[in-house]
Amino acid sequence: MAVQVSLRVLRVLVTLLSCYTHLGRVRATWWQMAVDSRLYSLSRAELYIIGAQPLCTTLAGLSSGQRKLCNLYQDHMSSVGIGARQGIEECQHQFRDRRWNCTTSDEDSVFGRIVNIGSREASFTYAIAAAGVVNAVSRACREGELTTCGCSRAKRPKDLNRDWLWGGCGDDVEYGYYFAREFVDAQEKEIIPTPGSQAHARQLMNMHNNEAGRKLTFSNARVACKCHGVSGSCSLKTCWQQLADFRTVGNLLKDKYDGANEVKLIKRGKRYRLDRRNPRFNVFTDEDLVYLNKSPDYCNADPTIGSLGTHGRECNKTGLGTDGCNLMCCGRGYNTFKREKVERCNCKFHWCCYVKCKRCRSIENVYVCK
Ligand SMILES: *[C@@H]1O[C@H](CO)[C@@H](O)[C@H](O)[C@H]1NC(C)=O
Ligand SMILES: *[C@@H]1O[C@H](CO)[C@@H](O)[C@H](O)[C@H]1NC(C)=O
Repeated sequence: MAVQVSLRVLRVLVTLLSCYTHLGRVRATWWQMAVDSRLYSLSRAELYIIGAQPLCTTLAGLSSGQRKLCNLYQDHMSSVGIGARQGIEECQHQFRDRRWNCTTSDEDSVFGRIVNIGSREASFTYAIAAAGVVNAVSRACREGELTTCGCSRAKRPKDLNRDWLWGGCGDDVEYGYYFAREFVDAQEKEIIPTPGSQAHARQLMNMHNNEAGRKLTFSNARVACKCHGVSGSCSLKTCWQQLADFRTVGNLLKDKYDGANEVKLIKRGKRYRLDRRNPRFNVFTDEDLVYLNKSPDYCNADPTIGSLGTHGRECNKTGLGTDGCNLMCCGRGYNTFKREKVERCNCKFHWCCYVKCKRCRSIENVYVCK
């Protein structure tokens, strides 16, 4: 009896202790700029005036190096915030049908404690946030919103048709890439981990995935052209460099997530680097995602790791994919509800020129995980 009680006490202590260490390690990051409303509500000019007051000291989540960059490039900060937000929104789109759906929390770390695990999901969040910054900064350059960059100065592609003009104002993807590299990686570079430690491995993992997101955005920029000439003849074209649609980048990164490489820290000579855990798998490239730890199953709510669980999530009764009730509910089963659905229907074309629809109501079944 006494033994049983003390065992229970011990278990509670161990749980508390592990809670504490997990809680203690939630790291604030620059991702928080995504939720700083000042970066959206104020115009750039207003932000600049705030510069008299210390904007950079009041932005949450910045490391000391990022604060210095903020002071130097204050007009870039709304682009960084917009980029981070775009990244998060794209993450939520890509993962909407999955157990882990890229939920953000109010915590300092934005994605919550879940990214403390060096998982595939963490690798995606780092990559997409970094990609968002390349995207937003490159575009802001083209729009003339930043003082230190402008239209792309990329060289004329060699294979461009000789009759076409090169020189429309393009997205400055080179600038976006380099700025994002300085700013995003600053946070990682300031950590000086014990060589060979878990923290060292994680630092390299984060930097690799940041770079993967940036590179993928950079290398998918394309040439876009516009026709001129006698109406419709398209005898003359002007072409420029243009970022890929951010959804395209999101889709590509999602493919990288599906094929992410499990890695470990190894020592070659005096240097440590990440290498594939399974030598039978292909060597990974700069544009591939890497992770260190297996993912939790995300089935149950577990505050110690920041998992929200899938209780209460909607699922597809007949679906066989990740949103199917079987997978989504982790075998716990589901409850069925009825919900009214309102749709546009019986649309008619009226002369001239509009379409008029009716609103039809119907009852649909909704399946929700137990
Ligand atoms: C994402 O998951 C959380 C936790 O399970 C849930 O509360 C939220 O509604 C989900 N979001 C979407 C868009 O499905
Ligand atoms: C559920 O999955 C089936 C099969 O994949 C699909 O045809 C159907 O449209 C899905 N239903 C919903 C509500 O997404």
